[in-house]
Amino acid sequence: MIQIIPAILANTPQDYKRDIEKINNSASFKKGWVHIDFMDNKFVPNKSVDPSVIKLYPTHLKKEAHLMVEHPSYPWAGDLVGLGFDRVIIHVESGDDKHLEDCLAYLEDHNIETGLAINPQTPLDKLKPHLDNIDLILIMGVIPGFQSQPFQESTFARVKRASSMFNMVSVDGGVKDINAKQLALSGARILVSGSFILNGNIDENVEKIWESIKSP
Ligand code: DX5
Ligand code: ZN
Repeated sequence: MIQIIPAILANTPQDYKRDIEKINNSASFKKGWVHIDFMDNKFVPNKSVDPSVIKLYPTHLKKEAHLMVEHPSYPWAGDLVGLGFDRVIIHVESGDDKHLEDCLAYLEDHNIETGLAINPQTPLDKLKPHLDNIDLILIMGVIPGFQSQPFQESTFARVKRASSMFNMVSVDGGVKDINAKQLALSGARILVSGSFILNGNIDENVEKIWESIKSP
């Protein structure tokens, strides 16, 4: 069973409000998750809203944070624990192995699911030391930092290999109707999609992804 998760990458509280309300009001996301991107302008050249914005605009969905930040332990992980996040995904490139392990352990101690994201150019073997300590692998389909970037075709093979290493593989960046089926066939269990879902009629866009996945 595949899940589709909508992604919000907001630079301003107004952008966040617009997107979360659109998702909250859609028929397609009565339950499930929302993926919220956070960026520090260091790990990637872009800066998101501060996590505290999340509590101004509540959602009925479970919240997954994607931290595109350097050294996610402090203050990010602590802030997200306080804001009721259900899953926190950090980047395998964002600190040394010790930093990553400490951060994952801290989140697990607070009963929060964990994930490790990996950039398109990073060898998948970098994930290996951490596989016992995470709930999910997030394969990036683009270089992180912005929505609406073109999907990298090498992602299919990376999803396939990641799925042979771990049972819960998610894909983020550039996901849309035209690549959803091949991603599912490659072993992706979760498709995270931002601009394709959010631009225009959200329910029609989600339906297009489902049609692609179910097509013969
Ligand atoms: C990319 C973010 C993605 C992004 C997805 O840096 O991590 O989650 O919001 O947006 P699209 O689907 O437009 O690539
Ligand atoms: Zn993301």
